[in-house]
Amino acid sequence: MHLEIPDVNAGSPSIPPPARRSHELRVRPTEARIDTGALGHNLREVRRCAPTARVMAVVKADGYGHGGILSARAFEEAGADWLGVALVEEGVELRRAGLVRPILVLGAQYTDYGLLLKYRLTPLVYRADQLDALEAAGRMAGMVLDAHVKLDTGMGRIGVQPADFGAFLTHAKSLAHVRLTGLATHFANADLRDPAHTARAVELFQTGRRAMVEQGFPLELAHLANSAAVMDLPATHFDMVRPGLMLYGAAPAPRFSGLANLKPALSWVTAFSHVKKVAAGTPISYGHKWVARRESLIGTLPVGYADGVRRSLTNVGVVLAGGKRCGIAGTVCMDMMMVDITDVPEAKIGDEVVLIGAQGHEQIDAHEVADRCGTIPYEIFCNISARVPRVAV
Ligand SMILES: Cc1ncc(COP(=O)(O)O)c(C=O)c1O
Repeated sequence: MHLEIPDVNAGSPSIPPPARRSHELRVRPTEARIDTGALGHNLREVRRCAPTARVMAVVKADGYGHGGILSARAFEEAGADWLGVALVEEGVELRRAGLVRPILVLGAQYTDYGLLLKYRLTPLVYRADQLDALEAAGRMAGMVLDAHVKLDTGMGRIGVQPADFGAFLTHAKSLAHVRLTGLATHFANADLRDPAHTARAVELFQTGRRAMVEQGFPLELAHLANSAAVMDLPATHFDMVRPGLMLYGAAPAPRFSGLANLKPALSWVTAFSHVKKVAAGTPISYGHKWVARRESLIGTLPVGYADGVRRSLTNVGVVLAGGKRCGIAGTVCMDMMMVDITDVPEAKIGDEVVLIGAQGHEQIDAHEVADRCGTIPYEIFCNISARVPRVAV
């Protein structure tokens, strides 16, 4: 029999460019399913927690690994007032995809200020040279450009130092083509039990806000509340809140979980690519770090650390198969990993396996995965690599 094998390199218009190919050509049964209904629900939970504030949905880092465009669309549809990105590149991508809400560039790294104008991105600024470059871009375009100013109230990352804020405002005042319409800062410790630091940050923020109002800046949006503050610190909601993690259905720390009814939006699923029985004493994977203590059933999964499964989950991670928790057996490889499915004797090639999410009565959330490998859920989500297709469900 002669089989027509399509040439994927033949330049057919239906074949996307190579970087995207793994998303379009679906051979491996592995995907991150994004429940867009859950994203909308979580946005409404933010509104319930902060009923008087506007909401900036933080969709940086590809929507915390959930897919930047699909997350931003879900949040826009659910009524987000603003979108927050880290990079100009991310903002441009959202505009090209048709997102319409105002977008703030939280990372404040610019080269071409014309790009900001072209794609209607609002810059966050904190240095005089940024003001000057914005002024020049505004003058050239014959426009007055809005910007938000970032104040460093204790994060020590970016932002005007409080002691320099007066001089910064004086400089901004002298510019005819720049309008500072927003004031932002970012908490370092709102998720920790550190009320003294957080109170000091709020006090510095209030002082900065008062200075702007007194000097006649058209301040419309003062904002600092991240997820922890949205849930736990109503006095910090000001004009707008800026949550990320909670929008994706995870609380910043377990102690927050009762404060909002969040729905995890991401489940990461794969399927067995191989299943075999091994005798007691059989070693599995690189370094033989796992050895069967009994006759065992071993399932191989076609995902590994190149997909974002942390290698440090070796022998300590779990997955769900047949509705049961099954331990990762041996070293997580680049593209594969093995799991001990002896307690799921009916398991066979092609059966669905859950890395994050629910199956039967069991659930593995990003907090659990993070705890097992010594990190935070943010990193677990963001590490799911580009070769794992994100599928809206
Ligand atoms: C400047 C800024 N604002 C808001 C957020 C959202 O924080 P969270 O995801 O904790 O809600 C982040 C996240 O890192 C951030 O960097």
